[in-house]
Amino acid sequence: MGCLIICLSQLFFLVFLLHSQPTSSSSFSSSSTLSCSQEQSSALLKFKQLHSYPTSSSSKYSDDCDQKKESWKEGRDCCSWDGVTCDTMGRDVIGLDLSCSELQGTIHSNSSLFLLPNLQQLNLAFNFFNSPISSGFGQFAKLEKLDLSSSEFSGQVPHELSKLSKLSSLDLSGNKQVSLNTSVMRRLVQNLTKLRELRLDGVQMSLVLLDSLMNLSSSLTVLSLNGCGLHGNLPYNIFRLPNLRELSLICNPELRGAFPTTNWSNPLMFLDVSTTGFSGPLPNSIDNLKFLKHLGLSQCNFNGLIPASFGNLTQITELDLSGNNFVGELPSSLSNLKNLSFLNLRCNKLSGSIPESFGNLTKVTYCYLSSNSFIGHIPSSLSNLKDLTFLDLGGNNFEGENLENLDLHANFLQGTFPVPPSSVVFFSISNNKLTGEIPSSICNLTLQILDISFNNLTGTIPRCLGYLSDFLSVMDLRTNRFHGTIPEMFAKCKSLRTLVFNHNQLEGSLPQSLVNCKKLEVLDFGNNKITDSFPYWLEALPKLQVLVLRCNRFYGQIEDFKANSSFAMLRIIDLSQNNFMGHLTSNFFEGLKAIKTVNENEVSLKYIGEDYYQDSVMVVWKGHERKLERILTIFTTIDLSCNKFHGKIPKVLGKLQFLRELNLSHNSLTGYIPSSLGNLLLLESLDLSSNMLNGSIPMQLTSLTFLAVLNLSQNKLIGPIPQGLQFNTFQNNSYIGNKGLCGFPLSKKCRIVEPPSSEEDNDLKFTSGFGWKAVMMGYGCGFVYGIAMGYLVSKSRKPQWLVSLVGISCFQV
Ligand SMILES: *[C@@H]1O[C@H](CO)[C@@H](O)[C@H](O)[C@H]1NC(C)=O
Ligand SMILES: *[C@@H]1O[C@H](CO)[C@@H](O)[C@H](O)[C@H]1NC(C)=O
Ligand SMILES: *[C@@H]1O[C@H](CO)[C@@H](O)[C@H](O)[C@H]1NC(C)=O
Ligand SMILES: *[C@@H]1O[C@H](CO)[C@@H](O)[C@H](O)[C@H]1NC(C)=O
Ligand SMILES: *[C@@H]1O[C@H](CO)[C@@H](O)[C@H](O)[C@H]1NC(C)=O
Ligand SMILES: *[C@@H]1O[C@H](CO)[C@@H](O)[C@H](O)[C@H]1NC(C)=O
Ligand SMILES: *[C@@H]1O[C@H](CO)[C@@H](O)[C@H](O)[C@H]1NC(C)=O
Ligand SMILES: *[C@@H]1O[C@H](CO)[C@@H](O)[C@H](O)[C@H]1NC(C)=O
Ligand SMILES: *[C@@H]1O[C@H](CO)[C@@H](O)[C@H](O)[C@H]1NC(C)=O
Ligand SMILES: *[C@@H]1O[C@H](CO)[C@@H](O)[C@H](O)[C@H]1NC(C)=O
Ligand SMILES: *[C@@H]1O[C@H](CO)[C@@H](O)[C@H](O)[C@H]1NC(C)=O
Ligand SMILES: *[C@@H]1O[C@H](CO)[C@@H](O)[C@H](O)[C@H]1NC(C)=O
Repeated sequence: MGCLIICLSQLFFLVFLLHSQPTSSSSFSSSSTLSCSQEQSSALLKFKQLHSYPTSSSSKYSDDCDQKKESWKEGRDCCSWDGVTCDTMGRDVIGLDLSCSELQGTIHSNSSLFLLPNLQQLNLAFNFFNSPISSGFGQFAKLEKLDLSSSEFSGQVPHELSKLSKLSSLDLSGNKQVSLNTSVMRRLVQNLTKLRELRLDGVQMSLVLLDSLMNLSSSLTVLSLNGCGLHGNLPYNIFRLPNLRELSLICNPELRGAFPTTNWSNPLMFLDVSTTGFSGPLPNSIDNLKFLKHLGLSQCNFNGLIPASFGNLTQITELDLSGNNFVGELPSSLSNLKNLSFLNLRCNKLSGSIPESFGNLTKVTYCYLSSNSFIGHIPSSLSNLKDLTFLDLGGNNFEGENLENLDLHANFLQGTFPVPPSSVVFFSISNNKLTGEIPSSICNLTLQILDISFNNLTGTIPRCLGYLSDFLSVMDLRTNRFHGTIPEMFAKCKSLRTLVFNHNQLEGSLPQSLVNCKKLEVLDFGNNKITDSFPYWLEALPKLQVLVLRCNRFYGQIEDFKANSSFAMLRIIDLSQNNFMGHLTSNFFEGLKAIKTVNENEVSLKYIGEDYYQDSVMVVWKGHERKLERILTIFTTIDLSCNKFHGKIPKVLGKLQFLRELNLSHNSLTGYIPSSLGNLLLLESLDLSSNMLNGSIPMQLTSLTFLAVLNLSQNKLIGPIPQGLQFNTFQNNSYIGNKGLCGFPLSKKCRIVEPPSSEEDNDLKFTSGFGWKAVMMGYGCGFVYGIAMGYLVSKSRKPQWLVSLVGISCFQV
């Protein structure tokens, strides 16, 4: 896979903005004891007046710029003016810094600026001249430093600049309308032999033949040609300039080149050729760059192995090799890079496992390893990386060791909530240790997925979350410490599919505005302190498949179902541990069509959710709370345990032939166990314990060949325990607390073999179920554990995506 990042001119602009911050008046310190000539002072005033416009209320560069004070007054010694520097004799202005002064208009060759012939330093950066660079600049014979960056100049660079033979620093960067041609470049190179810094970022240089760079001054320490449209081959000797400390060629896609294998410029500290056509393997000799702090090679065509000699670059703090074709394993020597804080290896073809020694990179703050072919386990030593604030591991072949460990992004982030850049659409920072409140600025994002589950966040749920966007499809806030009521915030939720608030301390009632969310499939309010009656109004949601209200303070009856078609899609129903009471009504179970009838489409394994995000849910499964990383649409469960239901178990439950788990334990149910439960052929877990059921255990239950868990304990059941098939596998504890039961596995022998007297009415017919029943019976017993594992397939499955904070993604080309 190749990863392509288009040169974003804005992003890139930022790069050089950072690099070429106005040098500011500090280096031009003025002294008030001197006095400049009338001539110079009026030339200065004239220039300033001509280019200043009276009222410009807001400055474009106000954040970057150190505004000059209004100290320029006639009659005052100009040597004392802000930005003006005079020589020690106080006769000549030798330095002028008018950066960030909101100057505008053309600087003509007759400009009074050029009446300051002794200038050694001139800084006009961050203004708005909107005109060509005047040939007049060539007149400053003593000029050593010229900064015209980011001032909206245009046109050709005049060849007269080559007369500035004393120049040691030339900065024309950030003038995207300016262009440079070969003949001017040659002259500059030839004559500017004292040049130490050359910054031309953004200047159009597509016409420049690169051999003109061959003879660049050997005193050069900085060469910055980012985004210049360079094309052709970069001469080798650039890498051999003996004093070069910074070489930045970012974002010149047509620029080709390779690294030399010998005689590097040893002093290089900053080397970045990202988004160029540089190619080939990295030479071992790269470790000649003993002082290297930043190496950026992203989005090039480099290939081969990452040389082990990388481990010698011990000063390095930023290493970006992303978007190349590097192969092979990571050299273990990488763990020598003790000062590394930014590591980006994403989008390569790296393989093998992440060495355990990665945990030695203790200063790493940003770590991107995604979209490679790494295998094996995520080294646990990564948790040593205390400064890690961003870890991106997606798109590899990592395995999770067990269900819990699937949370690869566990326990890395600490501190308060990081608001991602506005470009982010999928945002997950789940399984970290974030604290504090959700900042309301999160609401300014246009998110599709917001997953902040499993942190330690506090505070109330900001109302504005409900207005996040029309596109929000998943909001997962589970397992935090949010408190307060849930605001009526669901007005704009037409895409919302999944809403999970489980395991918080939320109280009050359920927000009825949820009825607006017609696409809701998963609704999980479990483990809070919600006090409300049963939300019948959710009937109106045609797609609702998962309803979890467990462990709250819900109360009242659940008998008033309007139609027999309520909750037709519901397949996971967990109302356990509330204060519900009254009878279990037949109407409720009648309506559960998704558990009642075979839907051809759903016989094949599918998951709730979409490819990029799969819903997970906590369920109590066979007695253990588990996180199902994905919800198979064939997974069905009804858990009404730990409430105050009384009366009989409705026979109609026997129609829910796709039910896999039924838990009615810890209620006050009475009467017989309906023999119709013997029709629940897929049932794997049946818990009717701690009720007041009487009669005997219906023989029909022996046809439940998938039944792995049976708990009938603490009831008033009597008679012999049915024998054979699954019943041979249940232990004592399935039956304890029923004084009247006898037979295996209980030690109490049955005195006489009583005829099963379970239920009056044994003649329920399920016409639609027989075909299915026959098929399933064909597999018979012994299949139990296999099928049970089926739900936990989540085990070995890698997550589809992981944290994507920066919002850059790999584009396949
Ligand atoms: C300077 O030159 C420009 C264009 O060549 C002209 O318009 C302007 O009047 C001149 N200014 C002075 C002060 O001579
Ligand atoms: C290069 O630019 C200079 C200065 O603007 C100009 O005088 C010259 O004609 C240009 N040369 C070519 C070959 O375009
Ligand atoms: C080089 O600089 C000298 C002055 O130092 C000047 O006379 C000469 O014209 C310049 N050459 C070019 C090609 O600009
Ligand atoms: C570089 O300079 C040498 C001599 O100093 C000269 O012979 C050669 O032609 C120059 N090369 C270029 C490309 O200007
Ligand atoms: C590298 O440097 C050595 C010693 O300075 C020199 O002998 C050799 O010619 C150089 N090699 C290249 C390819 O420039
Ligand atoms: C550089 O790294 C290589 C490979 O890890 C090693 O053999 C060599 O000794 C190192 N050189 C220095 C100067 O540290
Ligand atoms: C890490 O950086 C510090 C300060 O920049 C420096 O003193 C130290 O030598 C570096 N560590 C290594 C292992 O190079
Ligand atoms: C680096 O990590 C490895 C494996 O985790 C460990 O054995 C070793 O002691 C660490 N080395 C240093 C210098 O911290
Ligand atoms: C969010 O957007 C609103 C309105 O566009 C704006 O007033 C507010 O400052 C923004 N908040 C943040 C934190 O960006
Ligand atoms: C959450 O924060 C509380 C107090 O701030 C702390 O006691 C608790 O250990 C934290 N929990 C986790 C899982 O970090
Ligand atoms: C369910 O309701 C439909 C109409 O809504 C009706 O036709 C059907 O007979 C009812 N079924 C039962 C079992 O009550
Ligand atoms: C049924 O629910 C009770 C209480 O919620 C729980 O303790 C028990 O483990 C559940 N039974 C099964 C088999 O999951």
